[in-house]
Amino acid sequence: MGKVIGIFNQKGGVGKTTTSINLSAALGRKKQKVLLIDMDPQGNATSGFGINKNQLDLNVYDLIQTRATAEDMTVTTSAKNVNLIAGGIDLAGLEIELAEKDDWPFRLRDAIEAIKDTYDFIIIDCPPSLGILSLMALVACNYVIIPVQSEFYALEGTSQLLETIHMVQNNYNQDLEILGVLVVMHDARTRLATDVFDEIKRVFSDKVFKTIISRNVRLAEAPSYGQAIFDYDSLSKGAWNYKALGKEVLNRVNGDDK
Ligand SMILES: Nc1ncnc2c1ncn2[C@@H]1O[C@H](COP(=O)(O)OP(=O)(O)OP(=O)(O)O)[C@@H](O)[C@H]1O
Ligand SMILES: [Mg+2]
Repeated sequence: MGKVIGIFNQKGGVGKTTTSINLSAALGRKKQKVLLIDMDPQGNATSGFGINKNQLDLNVYDLIQTRATAEDMTVTTSAKNVNLIAGGIDLAGLEIELAEKDDWPFRLRDAIEAIKDTYDFIIIDCPPSLGILSLMALVACNYVIIPVQSEFYALEGTSQLLETIHMVQNNYNQDLEILGVLVVMHDARTRLATDVFDEIKRVFSDKVFKTIISRNVRLAEAPSYGQAIFDYDSLSKGAWNYKALGKEVLNRVNGDDK
């Protein structure tokens, strides 16, 4: 049964999508079958793989509205062993459309049940909010990875983030586990980044991944070429970092490294 991992932090621009794309690709290169689900109305994970959202007939919106199956809307990507279910702007209306429906928290979980056996990993790129899209994702997940930028406001909002995870554990999904906190866009040369890293370690202790993602311009460039970092620049620092993360995630999920 495939493991479902949500990439979650309600803060915007902290590297969720970059991590979703490149962790998916790293796992794919380790012979894991991966499905990336883009739960963000911005659809950045979709466009980051060079897929034109507007040319697709179906996306995750149709999945949540039970108008089509996951299989119907799965597309291949440029990354080896990585398939994708696209996100798109129609997701933005779901909050209102689902308000009357009691079963909304379980919609994504139930919709991917049938395809879980097909994959080793399902990675969900969450939007920057604590709204129903993120909640649906957390209900469907076995694990969450929390990317945290090593800058001054890094830990702002952490208590709401953890409260949300606890709320989901208590009400909908008691098996949900934080797989790890990932420090991203790190610049080891600055005193501030080093101080913030120490603070993140103090708060999350051994939940912090040993792998740190450095600030690397190649990671920011790759999406405009529709490629994961391994295909865009396999020798970049970013490629090495995400390769190491893929290995660490596999170890943690398999319980070899806790
Ligand atoms: N390690 C990195 N080094 C340099 N730039 C990065 C790195 N990680 C991400 N970026 C850039 O930072 C910006 C924000 O990253 P990203 O889109 O992954 O964040 P996000 O959390 O998904 O944002 P949102 O909350 O809007 O969905 C992007 O322009 C991305 O290319
Ligand atoms: Mg994003």
